[in-house]
Amino acid sequence: MSAQYDDIAREYQATKESPLRQYVEAFSFFNMLGDVQDKEVLDLACGEGFYTRLIATAGARRVAGVDISAAMISLAKEIEVQQVQGIEYHCADVVSLPDFGCFDLVTAAYLLHYAADTHALQSMCECIVARLKPGGRFVCINENPEQSFADFSGYTQYGFNKSADGPQEDGAKLTYAMVSGRKMIRFDVFYYTRMTYEAALYKAGFSEVRWVPLELAPEGTDACGAEYFQEYMGNPPVAGLVCVL
Ligand SMILES: C[S@@+](CC[C@H](N)C(=O)[O-])C[C@H]1O[C@@H](n2cnc3c(N)ncnc32)[C@H](O)[C@@H]1O
Repeated sequence: MSAQYDDIAREYQATKESPLRQYVEAFSFFNMLGDVQDKEVLDLACGEGFYTRLIATAGARRVAGVDISAAMISLAKEIEVQQVQGIEYHCADVVSLPDFGCFDLVTAAYLLHYAADTHALQSMCECIVARLKPGGRFVCINENPEQSFADFSGYTQYGFNKSADGPQEDGAKLTYAMVSGRKMIRFDVFYYTRMTYEAALYKAGFSEVRWVPLELAPEGTDACGAEYFQEYMGNPPVAGLVCVL
């Protein structure tokens, strides 16, 4: 199976070293997750397993990671061999998951905005619901639907650019370009309005859908200074989302 991350798996992995990832993305993600002790957790779009491993370290009883990119899953499995945590990895599209039961929590750091149209978005949401136990939660980080396409400048200082192709409407293509080491990597995602996301999630069966703004860890300010995060936090390109069945 080929996927847009197959050619950039190692370079994407290296972007996780950025202070934004550590002090904003990971901090916000784990605040939304809460206590995962003894939980069964499915990490969708797991990439090379950055969050999957952290979830296992945080005490989840069973952890499975799924990604469509064979190169990403291969990296994740390599790391699992070196540092055994008992994580199961599967290379699959989230809309055709293996039959591996249901989970207390489904997570996804960056998934829904890869749906190429509203039908694909609906299918993704339904597949997520199908993998949750009654009362289960879906926690994700996703494109910020409230950000205007006119507000994409200002991220160069963080080593990335975001651009839009066309008007601000469902299905518009957004491109991220970022420096990783000495290489520039690019990937495309799709824009959907807040209303479109919510409609798809409620239709799939969630009873509660809550957007959660990104948060900055106090250690981030100590390490880099508050000013470093100002532009990003004032105009966040992504947002958290917590959904309950
Ligand atoms: C931005 S990366 C995030 C990886 C990881 N969650 C992280 O935060 O490091 C997005 C990932 O989504 C995966 N992906 C995109 N569409 C997918 C789909 N339909 N099914 C499974 N994985 C998908 C890509 O292959 C890529 O690894």
